Amino acid sequence: MKKKIIVTGGTGYIGSHTAVELIENGYEVILIDNLYNSEAIVAEWIGKITGIMPQLEIFDLCDINKLDDFFSNNKNIAGIIHFAAYKAVGESVNKPLEYYRNNLVSLINILDAMKQHSIPGLVFSSSCTVYGQPEKLPVTEDAPMQPAISPYGNTKQIGEEIIRDTVSTDKNINSISLRYFNPIGAHPSAMIGELPRGIPENLVPFITQTAYGLRDELKVFGNDYNTPDGTCIRDYLHVVDLAKAHVTAIKRLIEKKNRESYEVFNLGTGKGVSVLEAIESFERVSGKKLKYKITGRRAGDIEKIWADPSYANKELGWKTLSSLDDAMRTAWEWENNIRKRKQ
Ligand code: UD1
Repeated sequence: MKKKIIVTGGTGYIGSHTAVELIENGYEVILIDNLYNSEAIVAEWIGKITGIMPQLEIFDLCDINKLDDFFSNNKNIAGIIHFAAYKAVGESVNKPLEYYRNNLVSLINILDAMKQHSIPGLVFSSSCTVYGQPEKLPVTEDAPMQPAISPYGNTKQIGEEIIRDTVSTDKNINSISLRYFNPIGAHPSAMIGELPRGIPENLVPFITQTAYGLRDELKVFGNDYNTPDGTCIRDYLHVVDLAKAHVTAIKRLIEKKNRESYEVFNLGTGKGVSVLEAIESFERVSGKKLKYKITGRRAGDIEKIWADPSYANKELGWKTLSSLDDAMRTAWEWENNIRKRKQ
């Protein structure tokens, strides 16, 4: 029998790519999403790619009664991959309570439901934002967490702590937090990808929308950082590589094998790329000249961060396979495809 996995935020960017990889690896997938930042049609697109349309349940995870009803009607769940969360750093500064309530109440409800309904494994979508500006680069998992710069980042730190404390007192639940660096790109079919609400905050959707003609120009936030070309450095990884890591993580939780009840992994390429290098890569693969200008720094930006992914390489047997150019190419194909479909 196929193992059943819940993917919360399953119609979102990383959730949808993970659902595809799970289905292609023989899991039965149930998506839960309140469609706050995504569309129900994504479930159909997942179905088109894989040939299997996943079950989609539309409700808010902050509603404990709905969650309870759901688990009463859906038994034998092998694990949960929890993506559903608000994720806009800037917005979180202006709406802290919304962020704390949504991101933390949903997580607490899920952990509660896991205890009530004997669900053994949780993969949590965390972020390299927990490290702040690390003193040593590349950053390893044992680098100290720094005080969060935004309520969004704080929900990831607190979320990890809530999980750690919960699994340490309940031997029936195990969890893995995956700290993502900067996921970009789209599925090679161009059927699914990142679909930001309104004006994108993240670099790559802003680049592709500008090249497509939806935005006038990209603002490069600062070129006076202490980096080789003066722009910030990040570790951009292909979203399909990232999605595959979730399959490995959930498999590991299902196997159990006397490991620590709570584990943390960095997911990145190990390579730092500047904003200008990211633009060059886009221009190379798209053949388009991008309109951009250098402006002032964005408040709260980290100067430079990239992962030491060797722990995930060794323990999970996972590493990134796609290049920056592959990721940019697929992001561009997706932008073109989605705009045509939306016309
Ligand atoms: C941040 C967090 C990440 C979080 C994500 C959620 C860090 C290190 N990273 O990503 O954990 O999950 O927000 O949104 O805290 N840039 C421009 N012009 C733009 C947009 C971005 O120059 O219009 C630059 C930024 O200054 C940055 C880089 O591009 O140097 C990447 O920015 P972005 O895609 O927003 O991601 P992070 O801020 O790294």
